[in-house]
Amino acid sequence: MIRIAVLGCGRIGVMHAANIASHPRAGLAGVFDIHAPAAAGVAAKTGARVFASAEAVFASDEVDAVLIATATDTHADLIEMAVAAGKPVLCEKPTDLSLERVNRCATVIAGTKVPVQLGFVRRFDPGHAAVRKAIAAGEIGELHQVVITSRDPAMPPPAYAAVSGGILRDMTIHDLDMARFILGEEVAEVFATGSRLVDPALMEKLGDYDTVAVVLTTASGKQAVITNSRQAVYGYDQRVEALGTRGMALSENRRAHAMTLHTAGFTDRAEPLLDFFIERYREAFDAEIAAFVEAVEAGQPPVVGFEDGRMALVLAEAALKSIAEGRVVRVEEMV
Ligand SMILES: NC(=O)c1ccc[n+]([C@@H]2O[C@H](COP(=O)([O-])OP(=O)(O)OC[C@H]3O[C@@H](n4cnc5c(N)ncnc54)[C@H](O)[C@@H]3O)[C@@H](O)[C@H]2O)c1
Repeated sequence: MIRIAVLGCGRIGVMHAANIASHPRAGLAGVFDIHAPAAAGVAAKTGARVFASAEAVFASDEVDAVLIATATDTHADLIEMAVAAGKPVLCEKPTDLSLERVNRCATVIAGTKVPVQLGFVRRFDPGHAAVRKAIAAGEIGELHQVVITSRDPAMPPPAYAAVSGGILRDMTIHDLDMARFILGEEVAEVFATGSRLVDPALMEKLGDYDTVAVVLTTASGKQAVITNSRQAVYGYDQRVEALGTRGMALSENRRAHAMTLHTAGFTDRAEPLLDFFIERYREAFDAEIAAFVEAVEAGQPPVVGFEDGRMALVLAEAALKSIAEGRVVRVEEMV
């Protein structure tokens, strides 16, 4: 039983705390949030202990590992503190909004044997993971192209958008990691385009985009195409497609059930898409905790680590540069 403390009890921390509390091989060691009522709310539901500070969490003998689900700008500091205390970490994405800060954190924790896992939960989605497995097993022959469609149902609240770091660092970062995962080789070139179509006034004010497309190319010429929108009125659209010389692997959207209705007036009427990430990636969030527990128990590097988080941010920065300069950016320019 690995006793995990959760730092940050907001939207996703509450979910992680509940998942850990009900996990067969993990226990909820306690919670901490700078906003005391948030931690108290989780404690009331789970019976978990409330810690008085992050320092108290890292100093506790009753905490084997920590899950960081705090605001993004605290992740790097908390990772450094956890590693210094010898506590394995599962940290939500993104590692930070500044590549310079992530690089400094990499230097601080370099050489550590303490497992640091990054919260790229989509790698654990059974469908998306099966695409990777099919490629690895040679079922679609030689991989040529990956198409990742990732659209949110609706714009986030303006207050969230203002501190999110922008669509590339906040949302596309999941897809950039998925592209690396499915491609199975590093990206060499990035071309991106960004538009302000859903809420042009807000996006203009924030210097952000609500609609982006990114094309990634590896040194061997394999391509990945990512399309993101902050607003798909039909729901949370999450698909991953891989084309190879012998076929295609496709991980489709998920619905509450698979019944479709067919009448004289229409065919294929289906349930709406699962909405939103907590429902759509429910199994993946559980599998993510299971993978973390395995890494901690084995004292092994996690399957998705700090460098994966850093590389996804490198690609997000390359995409932003590509949009700003209207050209293909070579990844080696960013490092
Ligand atoms: N993997 C995913 O799909 C996914 C989805 C949503 C959010 N996230 C990430 O999770 C993180 C949290 O997002 P959220 O939507 O839950 O945000 P949120 O604002 O709902 O919650 C963040 C919580 O952290 C607390 N907090 C802030 N600084 C703290 C500190 N120093 N110590 C302790 N608590 C602190 C806040 O009081 C708040 O309760 C973000 O980095 C976000 O990018 C990941």
